[in-house]
Order: sequence, then structure tokens, then C-alpha cells
Amino acid sequence: MSKLWGGRFTKETNKLVEEFTASISFDQKLAKEDIAGSLAHVQMLGECGIIPLKDAETIKQGLLAIKERVDRGEVEFLVADEDIHMNIEKLLIEQIGPVGGKLHTGRSRNDQVATDMHLYLRTKTTELIKLIEDVQLSIIKQAKENIETLIPGYTHLQRAQPVSFAHHLMAYFWMFERDKERLLDSLKRINWLPLGSGALAGTTFPINREKVAELLGFETIYPNSMDAVSDRDFILEFLSIGSIIMTHISRLSEEMVLWSSQEFQFIELDDSFCTGSSIMPQKKNPDVPELLRGKTGRTYGNLIGLLTVLKGLPLAYNKDLQEDKEGMFDTVETLEGSLKLLAPMIETMTVHKEVMRKAINTDFSNATDIADYLVRKGLPFREAHEVIGKIVLYSIQSNKFLLDLTIEEYKQFSDLFEEDIYQVLAPEQVVAVRNSFGGTAPEQVKQQIQLAEQKLHK
Ligand code: ARG
Repeated sequence: MSKLWGGRFTKETNKLVEEFTASISFDQKLAKEDIAGSLAHVQMLGECGIIPLKDAETIKQGLLAIKERVDRGEVEFLVADEDIHMNIEKLLIEQIGPVGGKLHTGRSRNDQVATDMHLYLRTKTTELIKLIEDVQLSIIKQAKENIETLIPGYTHLQRAQPVSFAHHLMAYFWMFERDKERLLDSLKRINWLPLGSGALAGTTFPINREKVAELLGFETIYPNSMDAVSDRDFILEFLSIGSIIMTHISRLSEEMVLWSSQEFQFIELDDSFCTGSSIMPQKKNPDVPELLRGKTGRTYGNLIGLLTVLKGLPLAYNKDLQEDKEGMFDTVETLEGSLKLLAPMIETMTVHKEVMRKAINTDFSNATDIADYLVRKGLPFREAHEVIGKIVLYSIQSNKFLLDLTIEEYKQFSDLFEEDIYQVLAPEQVVAVRNSFGGTAPEQVKQQIQLAEQKLHK
């Protein structure tokens, strides 16, 4: 059998052109969606009397048989048949004879491929939400064990104020929570049905798009056929959300790389998540978080790639649109792989509480609290800030930390100081008094975790 569209042509397609224009090497990933779309379409054709019911039934049985062969990996897709749509149609005609040629009535590959992509992203988006939840669960698990674990909190990567390690970890919970919200919201637009738009202008057959929407579970039908066949916003949106998710994964990964370094030693990644060096036997490299950070780049590339393809594209379908697929598959697979690794990596890491504690004891991250102490005793904040600046400088010069200074030393800077200053400076106290909503006090962190668990179990 030659090309499905061969009628108008007098020459064979140039081999290089055939290879260059074919998409079957990658769009075979849409086989399941393509068959699902065809099944709904043919049922509608039959019910609307556009083709005889018994032909619709024959086509349905043919499609189901092909689906089984595809599932079993028995089908060999051909570059000569260009893409998944024509490969399957050709298999169908081989399987059931010329009646298979009735399937494409009132339909075009343009509304067909758009429908396949919508179906594909709907499934993947739903699966990804689940994978994000697994990461959130592992964050909560670690957080619960570290509510009282103190770690320096940083700004400018300089120690700022001590915080609960759980609080630091939970910051990522909320980033992922917003990512899930974005994915959920995007489903509204993924759930628009393009099928029934024909090549660009609609169809002359009395089709029933509501029926197809119902069969395929779409909530909305594109009201404009030209928009339907050339809209790729839903993919842009997915690539953009995917890029944001990878940004969050990358930021957390960067922290894990830092924390597991000799310089920090705050955590140790499980051996099963690290690799060695071929030359330096002492090394244990955090390859997984490094690669998670690195893979973020390709997801940005996929987003910018498609934005660029779409920019300046006239309506309606253009072959350029075929370039929407590889980036989308790549971002889906990158997200799946990354999220699947992130959850167990967080869960299995060892937290070196004593090292974190030592860091807290040997820094000036409680300095703000002396300032607040003086303010409570009536000194204006600006003046208090000045006093503490001098105390910190004095401490650095005499090689001491704030808890090491005697009360006499404190009194040299202000006679407002009394013995209760030591209580105020204790790291537990510094953390416990930040008890405003969303703050790092253990009481707040516990409430935050409760709220997070409610979100997950909703
Ligand atoms: N393989 C094509 C794509 O991915 C399918 C649509 C082709 N339509 C066309 N008129 N050539 O976009």
C-alpha cells in the first residue's frame, strides 16, 4: 500500500524528505491516545448515521485489536507512514479492509493530533500531581523528626537567625503545593476538545461534538475550529509549570549539595543516592541532586523552544507545530524521573543535628535578639542596633560569642543589661519567641505541618 494521501502525486517522496518530515519516531508515544480518540470518533460517526453502524462496529473491533498488538509491542511503525495517525489508519485498513478508510470521515489529522496531545497531557498532569504529593509526604516525614532541630537560617548565604530545620524543609512543601495548584488549574484548559474542527474550518458532516466530548471526558469544546487546531497554549502552560517545578527541585538540590559538603556537613545523603570518583577514593559525590539541578536547564529549553516555534506562526495548522512534541515528552520524562528520585532521597538522608547545633553555638545569629531586648527596655531600635554592632565587633576581636561575654562586659555597653540576657540569647529561646503565624517557633511549625497534612488529605 502506498501513501494514504498519494492520489494527487506523480512522484515518490524523496527519502530524505520522508525522514525529515516524519514524526513517528517520537509520536508513537501517543498510540494509546490516538486510538482512544478514534474510538470515540467512530462511535459518534455511527450514532449520527454518518457511516453505517455495522461499519462503525467493524472499525471499533479493528482498533481494539490494533491496541492489543501495540500494547504487546508487536507493531512495527513505519517512517514511510510518517506519523502515528497514518500508521494506525494504515494498520486498520490492513486489518479490516477498505471499510477502515471510513474512520477518517469528518476528521483531519490536525484536530486529531491536537486531541491526542490534550489526552496525553491530561493523564500525565494527573500522574505528576501524585508524584509531587510523594515528595511532599517525604518532606513532612523529615520535618516531623526535626521540629526541634536548629539550623542557621541564612540571608545572602550569611548566617542570619536560627530556625527550626523543619521550618526550612517545609518551605519546599509550600512551593510544591503551589505547583500542584498550577497543574490542577491547567487541567481546565487541557480539558477543551479540539476534535470535530476538521482541518481548520469545521466539517460538512452532521457530527456531534458533545457526544465525543462526553466519551473522552472533556469539559469544554473549542468554540473556534481555527483556534482548536493551532492552539498549543496548553502545552506552553505545561512546559512553564514544569519549569517552575524544576526550579524548586533545583533549589532544594542545591541546598542538599551544600549541606552535604565537607564545609557544612549538615546532612549526609544515603550511599545509595551517591556515586564515587574513579580517581579520588575518598569521595562521595552528590550526583543525584547535582543532576536534578542540571536537568532543570533542559526544561527551560523546552519552554523557550516552543514559545519560539509559536511566535509569528499564522493560523491555522502549520507543520512547525509538529515541533511541540519532543520537548513536551522530554519535560514529562524529566519531571517523572526527578520527582521519583527526590522523594526517597529526602527520606533517606541523615540529619547531623549535632553539627547544626555546633554551627548555631558558634555564630552571631542571636544578635537581633539582644537588640530586641534593649528595645523592650526602652532604647530606640536604631540606638540598640548601634550598641549591638559594637558588642559583636568587641566579641569578634576578643574571640568570643555572645553567650560567652560576662555580665560586666555587657554592662560596659549599656547599663540596661541584666542577668536575664543569657536566657534571651539561648538559641531555643531565640527560635521559640518567633511565634507569629508562619514563624519558626516549634508551636507554629507544628501547626504548619498540621495544615500541610490537611492539604494532602483533602
Ligand atoms: N505529525 C503531525 C504533527 O505532529 C500531525 C498533523 C499533520 N497534519 C498535516 N496537515 N500535515 O503535527
